[in-house]
Amino acid sequence: MTHELTSPADIHVAEGLAERAHRDPHRPRFHFTSPGGWLNDPNGLTHWGGVYHLFYQYNPLAPAHHRIHWGHATSTDLVHWTDEPVALVPGADGPDRDGCWSGVLVDDGGTPTIVYSGRHGEQELPCVARGSADLRYWTKDPANPVITAPPEGVDVTAFRDHCVWRENGVWRQLVGSGIRGVGGTAFLYESEDLRSWRYIGPLLTGDASQNRGEPDWSGTMWECVDLFRLDGTDALVFSAWDEGTTHHPLYWTGRYEGDTFTPAGLHRLDYGGRYFYAPQSTRDEHGRRIMFGWLQEGRTDEADAEAGWCGVMSLPRVVTLGTDGRLAQAPVPELGVLRRDHVRLPASPLGDAYTRLHDVRGDQLDIETSLRLAPGATARLVIRETPDGAERTIVEVSRAYDGSGTLRLHREASSLDLTVDTEPLYGELPLDSEGLVDLRVLVDHSALEIFANGRPLTARVYPTRSHDAVGVGIGADGDVHLERFDAWQMASAFAEGPRPLWP
Ligand code: FRU
Repeated sequence: MTHELTSPADIHVAEGLAERAHRDPHRPRFHFTSPGGWLNDPNGLTHWGGVYHLFYQYNPLAPAHHRIHWGHATSTDLVHWTDEPVALVPGADGPDRDGCWSGVLVDDGGTPTIVYSGRHGEQELPCVARGSADLRYWTKDPANPVITAPPEGVDVTAFRDHCVWRENGVWRQLVGSGIRGVGGTAFLYESEDLRSWRYIGPLLTGDASQNRGEPDWSGTMWECVDLFRLDGTDALVFSAWDEGTTHHPLYWTGRYEGDTFTPAGLHRLDYGGRYFYAPQSTRDEHGRRIMFGWLQEGRTDEADAEAGWCGVMSLPRVVTLGTDGRLAQAPVPELGVLRRDHVRLPASPLGDAYTRLHDVRGDQLDIETSLRLAPGATARLVIRETPDGAERTIVEVSRAYDGSGTLRLHREASSLDLTVDTEPLYGELPLDSEGLVDLRVLVDHSALEIFANGRPLTARVYPTRSHDAVGVGIGADGDVHLERFDAWQMASAFAEGPRPLWP
């Protein structure tokens, strides 16, 4: 079967995918997913005239990363999404014939303008497209690619993905890259018109010889660079990449001034690593920094093909600067409209025994709890547990005697399916002298987002007994006080039934 795709209005989800996707018990119901087929990075994020636009890397023909389009969805509340026509389609010829890869959307004097990476063969180059007033229909610039090659004389590992902003009357752009034998980098360019670009130099270059193999290794290439300022601190977010080995989001804090970024520190953005990948952010019309990331799958390609869909968009997050100078993240408060059937537990000490919470169960949940941990103590919140405990996922927070804290997700028993990823995930949990942990856990079928004192850990779980892996429980080792516990069922954000992409 050949598919000759010419104009976005012709593009539909390949037959049967939306129906199959809808039947999959692992498909989230309040996280954004594509109607069917493949989804990866969030792109072109913008709040435009009161409407949030979420574009995404999309293959409507199969749940596989191939000939990537730009999918498009809109929302006025960041909770309920409307599918829009596909925005960008790979050209029949031209620099994006093999894919319209990641990019951003800017307001060029009232004209919505996309800067993206056109893929042809093994090469990606910057391209531009201009949109209709409703951001639905896009025209590619005949001058594409607007930058015809990576900077001369630099041996690059890759050259793609964009961050574009206006500063002192000119456009500035970062393109993600890596310098072979040195490390990941972001190349800085400048332009008057978004079409002809002057190369300035690398904004900042990592050192790939440091921490190789560690969760904060900065990799040999930086994908999806994103630069923004929060309360006087600059953050340069990127996805550390290395051929075949490394996929995790990191950020530098520091100072962007002139043509350079002077780093203060390098940190992990999400302890889930590849499960919160290629994030992009925008400043919304309320002045908030809103970020989305891509939750990759943790099951086999065959299972994805069978399911008819793959790839989940994270819940929208508000990013702020924490008192410790690090980024703090929380789901947008708008999600509260989906909360139903509130259950509250009284404050009490948590005994050593494990307690199954019979009033709280389900695979669409929002749990907010505060726990006070004495030195040496550990608290556990168990989710997606079968009645016999054969399948269970454990969110664990602990406080060491030296005062340091750890957030851990145990997925070893998340699924009896031996082909899914069940590696434990963990990271540092900042604690005050009281040992207080504000923990938020959002469960949406296979998608899991955890926030502990502002630090996120995102993951996927695939219980085989999806119908009865719905139990929730709580337990502790050592002296733990439950200060607060609230839980809600979460309603679905999408109507029942398969989603037609566009009638
Ligand atoms: C990140 C990424 C980007 C690229 C896009 C292709 O996940 O590899 O670097 O532009 O996805 O779909």
